[in-house]
Amino acid sequence: MKFFIDTANVEDIKKAYKIGVLSGVTTNPSLVAKEGVKFEDRIEEILKLVPEVESVSAEVTPDAITAEEMIAEANELIKINGGDKNITIKVPMNIAGLETCRYLNKKGVKINVTLVFTVNQALLAARAGATYVSPFLGRLDDISEDGVLLVSKIAELFRIHNLDAQIIAASVRHPDHVTRVAMAGAHIATVPYSVIEQLTKHPLTDQGMEKFAADWVKAPKN
Ligand code: E4P
Repeated sequence: MKFFIDTANVEDIKKAYKIGVLSGVTTNPSLVAKEGVKFEDRIEEILKLVPEVESVSAEVTPDAITAEEMIAEANELIKINGGDKNITIKVPMNIAGLETCRYLNKKGVKINVTLVFTVNQALLAARAGATYVSPFLGRLDDISEDGVLLVSKIAELFRIHNLDAQIIAASVRHPDHVTRVAMAGAHIATVPYSVIEQLTKHPLTDQGMEKFAADWVKAPKN
């Protein structure tokens, strides 16, 4: 399973990129709004920052309701950074989003269908030509449903029917989510930097470091 970082914050993206685990970036209108910068400018900045990743998701705005409006926005987004091949257009899971997905697929543009909460939605997105489908597991857990189970069902369905779309486990809240979606067959988990940092930690690692440091003081030097 690959890691994408779920943020529009450049400092967090730099930190994750530096440690070599980053395969992509996902943003959404809420994450961009938090940054207080113009959406297109931040997407350009991110694309320039992480040229080696496979995908940087830029979502059509909530102002785009119809497929025509989503397509118009997508056609502007794909010009950013000189038509960067890594840009991935994120569309919501609805009829207009699927129509946009089909259009972009024919144009050879990568698409991430977001706000997926059922197996049927994932199937439709894959059939419409999505490169990625994003089930939101944390938000399902929030309403006492099983987000990881959804990921595992989608993975099984894609295997049975040989569907190429990759599953991005999204709305990931903690390290246990990461382990469980990896085991459930997600191709990618998109996670905030705080979760990447948590994944590196274990109390026995800290204790081991402290012991090495304490013993090293006693070691003869020269
Ligand atoms: C995915 O692409 C979304 O940006 C994200 O994972 C949403 O997560 P949240 O439920 O923490 O807002």
